[in-house]
Amino acid sequence: MALNTAFAITAILSIWISPITAQSPPPPFLPPSSSPAPSPAPHVVNLTNLLSLTGPFITFLDLLLRTDVIQTFQNQANNSKQGITIFVPTDSAFAELEKPSLSNLTKDQLRSLLLYHAFPKFYSLSDFKNLSSQNPVSTFAGGQYTLNLTDTSGLIRVGSDWSNPQIRSSVFSTYPVAVYEIKSVLLPKAIVTTPPALTPAPAPAPDLSPASDSAPASQKGRGEEAPKSSETGNSNSSPHKIVLSGLICFLTAAWGAVVLMV
Ligand SMILES: *[C@@H]1O[C@H](CO)[C@@H](O)[C@H](O)[C@H]1NC(C)=O
Ligand SMILES: *[C@@H]1O[C@H](CO)[C@@H](O)[C@H](O)[C@H]1NC(C)=O
Ligand SMILES: *[C@@H]1O[C@H](CO)[C@@H](O)[C@H](O)[C@H]1NC(C)=O
Ligand SMILES: *[C@@H]1O[C@H](CO)[C@@H](O)[C@H](O)[C@H]1NC(C)=O
Ligand SMILES: *[C@@H]1O[C@H](CO)[C@@H](O)[C@H](O)[C@H]1NC(C)=O
Repeated sequence: MALNTAFAITAILSIWISPITAQSPPPPFLPPSSSPAPSPAPHVVNLTNLLSLTGPFITFLDLLLRTDVIQTFQNQANNSKQGITIFVPTDSAFAELEKPSLSNLTKDQLRSLLLYHAFPKFYSLSDFKNLSSQNPVSTFAGGQYTLNLTDTSGLIRVGSDWSNPQIRSSVFSTYPVAVYEIKSVLLPKAIVTTPPALTPAPAPAPDLSPASDSAPASQKGRGEEAPKSSETGNSNSSPHKIVLSGLICFLTAAWGAVVLMV
């Protein structure tokens, strides 16, 4: 009885192990794929998806979709060599504005207001220093809709007529698309003629830390060749581990079988 069990275990184990041990030894180390790959076409970023997965930017995205400005932005991202930079106010930035400030705007004014939140050109965070020497900078909304940028030791502010928010984080910054989070809506005098009434914000966080640049923002995206996965590195070692643990199992079982037989 015990003998039968021992044989059964051994048989099962050898069946289980054989496909692994039968494997030919791992192929000789492949040369790292350093052969110059043809420079990959920049990946087309779906701005709708990007804004719905990050944020909360629901209000801004909803306005972009309602006015079709999203098409203008996506088209610029898809087809221009220049790329695009978008300053995206958070939902709480919109919630802070007293309702009449935006709800009384015509559709054209709303479109201009949204386009005012973008440059028809890609700027990484490190580009803003230079850009701030060119103030006032025209936006996607056209020549008279300008922003003043300031870069104080990496603390970047985007100045509109009625607000001067700091770039809080780099949501996405890989050529051709840059998306930066801001905590106030950008308001041009040409559209919002009077200073906006703000609802008292519930204890806003201090506006001190520089934009978190943990995203690969300063790299311009092009030529960034970070390995996409570590699979090639692992595949050489893991089969060994499996074989080894299989062998240990097998030896343990064999030893057990011997003990049982004795
Ligand atoms: C982006 O994704 C949304 C939803 O997944 C889709 O409806 C839309 O057509 C996409 N847009 C582009 C430009 O690919
Ligand atoms: C942008 O490119 C995507 C993918 O190629 C395409 O599905 C989409 O229709 C394009 N959108 C615009 C506005 O060019
Ligand atoms: C909408 O209201 C704001 C003040 O709340 C004002 O500054 C702006 O001029 C108004 N716009 C229109 C089109 O009436
Ligand atoms: C800075 O801006 C000027 C335009 O005023 C441009 O000619 C120059 O190439 C820019 N420098 C850098 C490093 O981007
Ligand atoms: C930008 O700065 C100039 C000069 O200080 C000023 O006249 C203009 O009103 C500012 N524009 C904005 C949008 O802040």
